[in-house]
Amino acid sequence: MDWNQKYQGQDYFYGTKPNDFLKSQATLWQSPKKILCIAEGEGRNATYLASLGHRVFAIDSSSVAREKALKLAASSQVTIDYQLADLANFDFGQQQWDAVVSIFCHLPSSLRHKVHQRVEAGLVQGGTFLLEAYTPNQLAFGTGGPKDTNLLYTPDQITNDFSQINWSLAHEVQRNIQEGTGHQGMSAVIQFLGSKK
Ligand SMILES: C[S@@+](CC[C@H](N)C(=O)[O-])C[C@H]1O[C@@H](n2cnc3c(N)ncnc32)[C@H](O)[C@@H]1O
Repeated sequence: MDWNQKYQGQDYFYGTKPNDFLKSQATLWQSPKKILCIAEGEGRNATYLASLGHRVFAIDSSSVAREKALKLAASSQVTIDYQLADLANFDFGQQQWDAVVSIFCHLPSSLRHKVHQRVEAGLVQGGTFLLEAYTPNQLAFGTGGPKDTNLLYTPDQITNDFSQINWSLAHEVQRNIQEGTGHQGMSAVIQFLGSKK
């Protein structure tokens, strides 16, 4: 997938509003957090979290996405620290993130597993991990997301990727998603929320 090409237009491909699942949870987060948004794309979620007063870092491999994200943040009068990097090489560090947010970050299975292990190591004790992603059942809907099953996630894959997370939410749901022109209609997703032991 050539993400720079996908993001080339003036419009924001997944819109400028935050993801519904993230919004429903983040409104409950009390104190300001140091948050990392992985595969952040055009910045809608990072901008939203920064507008709530959090210190927000983002990473994505698309330079076009980064430019548009910085514009979106500026137009919302917030600051985000957005690094251009490939998740295959990104150093999450050890115990330094209060929260890691993964919204539609669809990686090949071997990379997904490695990234999730590094996410776990990078979270502080009690730190939050939040994920929404399409499942293989999404192929029947055709309303967005990858067409390759190797890039789609099942609940078991996610629980197996982590050993130190207490899950408060770990399920597959079908919901109507309206996010720009990229995600439109009934969809099959997994939603995960947990905190590091
Ligand atoms: C479906 S978009 C989701 C963007 C954003 N999270 C959102 O929901 O608006 C997937 C994003 O993953 C990024 N991505 C895919 N593989 C990546 C990798 N290996 N390293 C960094 N970013 C990656 C793409 O550039 C793209 O912006």
